[in-house]
Amino acid sequence: MRSMIVTVTLSLGLLAASVPQSALALDLLRGQRVYNQRCAVCHGMNGVPTIQQAPSFVTKERLMQPDMVLLQRVQMGKNSCPPFMGSLKNDEILDVLHYARQMR
Ligand code: HEC
Repeated sequence: MRSMIVTVTLSLGLLAASVPQSALALDLLRGQRVYNQRCAVCHGMNGVPTIQQAPSFVTKERLMQPDMVLLQRVQMGKNSCPPFMGSLKNDEILDVLHYARQMR
């Protein structure tokens, strides 16, 4: 059991090491740019929503979910939140999510 855990941990480490650096590097400035252009109209420039149904990012509302869950949600859209699949790349969406998470 113990050796299995070690093996899994090791291979995860190798996996992370084999991902190109650019895929892991977060770009907050790009996140901000995309956010201001595509999200701020409803979620607000400072994360205070401009429409009632939208969650507040200042209070981290809905942002405490795993990256992959939020990534998929932004890709597919949810009710009045439009789908961004095709118009934003995955790493752009991840940058936006990280930008939103550090708003206060
Ligand atoms: C037209 C208005 C609008 C725009 C533009 C918009 N959103 Fe939303 N967003 C909403 C609304 C409304 C909700 C609440 C949806 C619900 O739960 O019914 C929401 C919900 C969300 C959520 C929470 C999803 C969940 O798990 O419940 C995230 C994350 C999110 N938006 C991110 C974004 C990002 C990132 C962008 C820009 C790339 C964006 N939104 C652009 C209106 C918008």
